[in-house]
Amino acid sequence: MTTQETAEKIQRLKQERNAVILAHNYQIPEVQDIADHTGDSLELARIASKTDYDVIVFCGVMFMAETANILCPQKTTLIPDPKAGCPLADMIDLKKLQKLQAQHPDAVTVCYVNSSAEVKAHSDVVCTSANAVKIVASIDKPIIFVPDRHLGDYAAKKTGREIILGPGWCPTHYNIDPDDIRDLKNKYPDAEVVVHPECTREILALADHICSTSQMIRAVAASSAPRFIIGTEQGLLHRLKKDNPDKEFLTPGPCLCPNMKKITLDKVLRSLETMEHKVVVPEPVRTQALTALERMLEYV
Ligand code: 13P
Repeated sequence: MTTQETAEKIQRLKQERNAVILAHNYQIPEVQDIADHTGDSLELARIASKTDYDVIVFCGVMFMAETANILCPQKTTLIPDPKAGCPLADMIDLKKLQKLQAQHPDAVTVCYVNSSAEVKAHSDVVCTSANAVKIVASIDKPIIFVPDRHLGDYAAKKTGREIILGPGWCPTHYNIDPDDIRDLKNKYPDAEVVVHPECTREILALADHICSTSQMIRAVAASSAPRFIIGTEQGLLHRLKKDNPDKEFLTPGPCLCPNMKKITLDKVLRSLETMEHKVVVPEPVRTQALTALERMLEYV
């Protein structure tokens, strides 16, 4: 089957199943192109929470599909490949979180959406890269921030809040070499540097824009710079190039999330044919995690 035939079959089946396809900005171009909505973690969570469709096919990684199921358990949430995990999310588990909470009993726990449902269930509020600074700024107490220590460190620096940092980091963003960004900046002094807050402090210090993936799309659209150095997963380039054919995008080496790339068009089709793989967060974890997610959604 050609890509075109697979895409057409997906569109037909989507109607039959009354399904909506949500794709994260890091998905491969063919998957982004057949999606009803592309977006960052926050946008996709919001769309999922309000959907009227019976089925959500979530093209992203497991914690994102879990978030959709937590927000709308009455719908069927499918992930085309259940092995699409997130190593950052796996760097904190309940045991580690509870140890931190026991050491800092007066602290509020803010948990990055890149985490398991169980960790969300034991947190006070969830955040994404799009709203972490805003949420941290609103809390006037010591904060345990898990699992991403780079995002937590960035939020602490922006807000002056006391933050106890969790143990995690994103291997994909961690692999970006600051020297590659410096070299590109030297070669193209008119380029703006756009990076994700999961990057290291050294990289953030080189940036003009530090933001979530969808905020990057808006920052590039609003800028008059002719070229941009993009410090995030390469899937975002598809949308950036599509929206800005007259602008140039430079990357500091390959920046690839192998988990995001596990979702293919063939797997999306199979998912709609077989109604696999269902993502169901068990109770009472779902309801407890919902409280922390709803607190986040109230912020923006
Ligand atoms: P965004 O919420 O900025 O899209 O980021 C998601 C993510 O997992 C980054 O690695």
